[in-house]
Amino acid sequence: MTHPPQGALAAAAAAVPGVDLPGLDRVLAIANDKGGVGKTSITANLAALYAAAGYRVLAVDLNRQANLSDDLGYRGTAIDDQGSGLLMALIAGQPLQPVEAPGRPGLHVVPGGVRLHDLTAVMTGRVQTEGAAWQRALARVLAPVASAYDLVLIDTPPENTLLIDLALGAARWLLMPTRTDAGGLVGMQLLAERFTVARRVNAPLGLLGVVLFGTSRTARAIHASVREQVEAAFGLPSSPMLTAMIGHSERIANQSRARGRVAHELESDAASQPAWWESLRRGERVQGRIPPTASNVAEDYRRLAAEVLDRLAAAEVQGATGE
Ligand SMILES: Nc1ncnc2c1ncn2[C@@H]1O[C@H](COP(=O)(O)OP(=O)(O)OP(=O)(O)O)[C@@H](O)[C@H]1O
Ligand SMILES: [Mg+2]
Repeated sequence: MTHPPQGALAAAAAAVPGVDLPGLDRVLAIANDKGGVGKTSITANLAALYAAAGYRVLAVDLNRQANLSDDLGYRGTAIDDQGSGLLMALIAGQPLQPVEAPGRPGLHVVPGGVRLHDLTAVMTGRVQTEGAAWQRALARVLAPVASAYDLVLIDTPPENTLLIDLALGAARWLLMPTRTDAGGLVGMQLLAERFTVARRVNAPLGLLGVVLFGTSRTARAIHASVREQVEAAFGLPSSPMLTAMIGHSERIANQSRARGRVAHELESDAASQPAWWESLRRGERVQGRIPPTASNVAEDYRRLAAEVLDRLAAAEVQGATGE
């Protein structure tokens, strides 16, 4: 499943050591320069859904805040090294050792956290000493482990060009969430620039799709306008916008992060909670209950998960047949 680089990009890529790293064909960076557009929620939900469906999945967290550890519920547990494993792999060449996410067989994680604090400064130094090859640092760290997984998802931080570049230097695909507001779209334009830069050292990098996040399902005119802006930013002939979108639901989002349970897990937790009148009789607070709207959000993520797999499969068939 290799995708030969093409044309001028191939020539540029060939000049960078380590460009032909194997096993990275199913590495997805979930990125947007803008904060709060759903990068972590999407990484957590897709990772847990794919693992539940029987895929072997690795989720890598490049964030200091490590919200992925909240969404997947491992913050402060024995596996939470707060990013030190990832840091040591990137700066000292130690082998990356993904760990199993508790309660989710098939899902491994490389935690992020406060230990990543120094990473940006170290990587800035590498830019001076290594030139363009520095951007393949994460690719080199992931390559020995990535082929053990069907999918590798990288959750990226906002407004951190170096770490975004690192993720785009390792990924085969970019999945970009955006909100429909102007801020999300500015972030998208900045990311489109980083995408072009990354392809100089990582020629196979492609845009898998753009996903609308936290939007009203019926705001069709707004969705159409965003679609146009996305097409213009990436200069693509066909729309990268995915049909699936994640509807707005702050209540489910808050419950999800507070409980460390992603949407489809909340949906099944909701189904097994006592009837509301029983809770009321027992004096339990109705506000603490999982609302039935968890199913809507879970369904949005299921659709997204399916569409992402469809796009991957279609792109891989195209790559294999050289179309
Ligand atoms: N379906 C949703 N509707 C509305 N808000 C949501 C939804 N899902 C998550 N949120 C909220 O949106 C905020 C941003 O989500 P998330 O953390 O996934 O974005 P992010 O891009 O990773 O942010 P950051 O750039 O800070 O890492 C969070 O407060 C989260 O609770
Ligand atoms: Mg995040």
